[in-house]
Amino acid sequence: MTIPSHIGTPLSPSATKVMFLGSGELGKEVIISLQRLGVEVIAVDRYADAPGHQVAHRAHVINMSDPVALRALIEQEKPHFVVPEIEAIATAVLLDIEREGIAEVIPTARAVNLTMNREGIRRLAAEELGLPTSPYAFANSLDELQAAADRIGYPCFIKPVMSSSGKGQSKVDRREDIPAAWDYAASGGRVNQGTVIVEGLIEFDFEITQLTVRAVGASASVETFFCDPIGHRQVAGDYVESWQPQAMSTLALQRARDISKAVTENLGGRGIFGVELFVKGDDVWFSEVSPRPHDTGLVTLSSQYQSEFEIHAKAILGLPVNTALLSPAASAVIYGGMEATGIRFEGVADALKVADSDIRLFGKPESFMKRRMGVAVCRAESTDAARNNAKESAARVKPQTATD
Ligand SMILES: Nc1ncnc2c1ncn2[C@@H]1O[C@H](COP(=O)(O)OP(=O)(O)O)[C@@H](O)[C@H]1O
Ligand SMILES: [Mg+2]
Repeated sequence: MTIPSHIGTPLSPSATKVMFLGSGELGKEVIISLQRLGVEVIAVDRYADAPGHQVAHRAHVINMSDPVALRALIEQEKPHFVVPEIEAIATAVLLDIEREGIAEVIPTARAVNLTMNREGIRRLAAEELGLPTSPYAFANSLDELQAAADRIGYPCFIKPVMSSSGKGQSKVDRREDIPAAWDYAASGGRVNQGTVIVEGLIEFDFEITQLTVRAVGASASVETFFCDPIGHRQVAGDYVESWQPQAMSTLALQRARDISKAVTENLGGRGIFGVELFVKGDDVWFSEVSPRPHDTGLVTLSSQYQSEFEIHAKAILGLPVNTALLSPAASAVIYGGMEATGIRFEGVADALKVADSDIRLFGKPESFMKRRMGVAVCRAESTDAARNNAKESAARVKPQTATD
């Protein structure tokens, strides 16, 4: 790991070049932060005109799970930093290019490789680091799954090990429902490699994202910084609203940070991590971690002096970061609500009439019913007030087909 000592001029031989693998709404915000610092950005996604493509110096469309195509593009563009934004990447290529010194992978190739598979990160957290997690087992067949679920007990969660955003995931209340959960997992996994994790249900009071930053600190070496905890509500595997700060006991907060530090220190490198934790009273369980900005962290566009995206950009470049809270705030997701391309958004002016609100529209070329097309963020005196206002602001934005 080398900490950069300067920033060059984009589109010149001195340019500092960053390549994004995945260029959705989270990448788009990081790219905008890098653009402000005069960094040259190359945005890659599997479809044309992705949100991040629209704000980068160059855009490429490739299948990032194809190792040959991925390696060829990295060799062609010669970025200093490769920043994975999604999990569906040929991560073996990232391990190679990091080892060969071709580019630095953010935060590290090993972190990206371990976290793209639930088995890798769960075994690291629970078995190597000894952190509290839900009881779990892995299964490669329906018979194994049945036995594992009987052992762990009901209700339990069944998840493909290679999946995200709730895909292929189910909560099973009764033994009879295991075959359906197995079939559903097989259909929803990223690469159909037929391994699932069974997790016992944790009856949490609430769940949080502990944004944890590894950035250069006062000592000129990498230190760990924490944002205030983010509370969120998940529906069918996707976050619908988030708020910051989530109130919690002093002991629970200390435990959340100890767990987050242990995991992120092991994963190493520089950048922001979204550590997902379940909290009940003073007890905290590790659930999973993204080695990149987290969708629930969209709230930081309003709640912090520096958003999680700006913090990620600065951490990548070896610059100091500010994780302090500016004000309680909340975010609420704006869904497409329809299957159509080139849609229009009505009501944005009304949405912005809600007190202390702001809106992001991601510019996705195609809308689906449950596709996240934008977000409303609101600051208020309390997170309760902010949540109400963010939901109201989001509801005022009305997607329409272009022909309406
Ligand atoms: N073991 C569990 N106990 C209780 N709730 C869970 C458990 N596992 C998952 N959930 C719920 O499902 C959501 C999605 O699960 P998660 O493992 O984070 O999948 P994804 O990678 O799709 O985000 C969690 O945020 C939580 O609300
Ligand atoms: Mg999750």
